[in-house]
Amino acid sequence: MVLHVAAAGVNRADLLQRAGAYPAPPGAPDWPGLEVAGTVASVGEEVSGWSVGDRAVALLEGGGYAEQVRVRATQVLPVPAGVDLVDAAALPEAACTVWSNVVDVGHLTAGERLLVHGGSGGVGTLAVQVGAALGARVAVTAGGRARADRCLALGADLAVDHREEDFVEAVRSASDGHGADVILDVVGAAYLDRNLRALATGGRLVVIGMQQGARAELDLGRLLARRATVAGTTLRARPAAEKARIVRDVLAHVWPMVEDGRVRPVVHARVPLDEARVRTSSSTRARCSARSCSSRSAPVRATAAAARLAPWLTTRATPAPTTTPLAATGRTTAPTASPWSRRTARA
Ligand SMILES: NC(=O)c1ccc[n+]([C@@H]2O[C@H](COP(=O)([O-])OP(=O)(O)OC[C@H]3O[C@@H](n4cnc5c(N)ncnc54)[C@H](OP(=O)(O)O)[C@@H]3O)[C@@H](O)[C@H]2O)c1
Repeated sequence: MVLHVAAAGVNRADLLQRAGAYPAPPGAPDWPGLEVAGTVASVGEEVSGWSVGDRAVALLEGGGYAEQVRVRATQVLPVPAGVDLVDAAALPEAACTVWSNVVDVGHLTAGERLLVHGGSGGVGTLAVQVGAALGARVAVTAGGRARADRCLALGADLAVDHREEDFVEAVRSASDGHGADVILDVVGAAYLDRNLRALATGGRLVVIGMQQGARAELDLGRLLARRATVAGTTLRARPAAEKARIVRDVLAHVWPMVEDGRVRPVVHARVPLDEARVRTSSSTRARCSARSCSSRSAPVRATAAAARLAPWLTTRATPAPTTTPLAATGRTTAPTASPWSRRTARA
């Protein structure tokens, strides 16, 4: 299929590619852009279910900073109902990353505890919301209280300022020593040992980023004692068939969460595509707390999220669908005694 591009997401991978540290895979365009939103310009002969003019988003191997993109139909999804076309460009990469790691690899289930490192980032903001929508109790790390509070507003139950607090201690004490069942890690080597310490018995650590190193020492004794799993994936390098399966799962499971309001794209700013070069410089991006969209129009707006404090001890009774604002999602407070027992969570 060919799409007219209305907007493209700005991902950290785009910055790495511009810095020469993350070259495009063979066959992909040399220029950045892992996800786009737009309208269908043409449809291949063997493709069904799409018409010219339909609103769509696409997961790409690169090349989204363009007027048009050609993409396999298996990597195209409809713009979810109720979502603005430009905001929709912030969804495909993060949604596919979160689903394929937190659910496919991490096997997160309702009532479990999910720790998301970098909860205010592009992947993190989606992970918090999807985790909460699945009925997990979500903890995040974020740099600074303001970002931590934004994660609480998105549905996290515990937000740890990683600049001031030790997340291992915070997570273990907020869970009566249980720890996190699943950790989604974007930090890498510097957190490997601490992640193992924060994991629950039987916990799953899924590493998707190496912002602080690729090599670290793994304490196998701790791994065995915890009966834990350490896994890692990259989305961009996956074969087309795997991407197609992930996109199908995202359509089936994440899109309904978006359409009923439990999950929304969090956009830090909209900038004209002409400014993508500036916006993807590391110094500028480092100040962004969530995804930006480069669009062919030029509105600029900041993400507005009300701060809301909620202890991680809160029990999410059911993953009830809601269309109320995220800052006002219903939640019942657990009794203080053993609030993290699996029985309580699943009751
Ligand atoms: N493997 C894959 O398939 C895949 C797919 C997509 C993304 N990724 C990777 O995932 C990471 C996030 O991508 P993104 O697009 O969401 O980038 P982003 O929006 O720039 O977010 C980066 C996040 O990392 C957090 N962070 C940095 N240092 C941290 C620390 N010491 N402790 C906790 N959090 C820390 C930041 O939190 P603060 O600013 O609040 O400190 C920020 O939220 C990148 O490394 C990217 O390459 C991997």
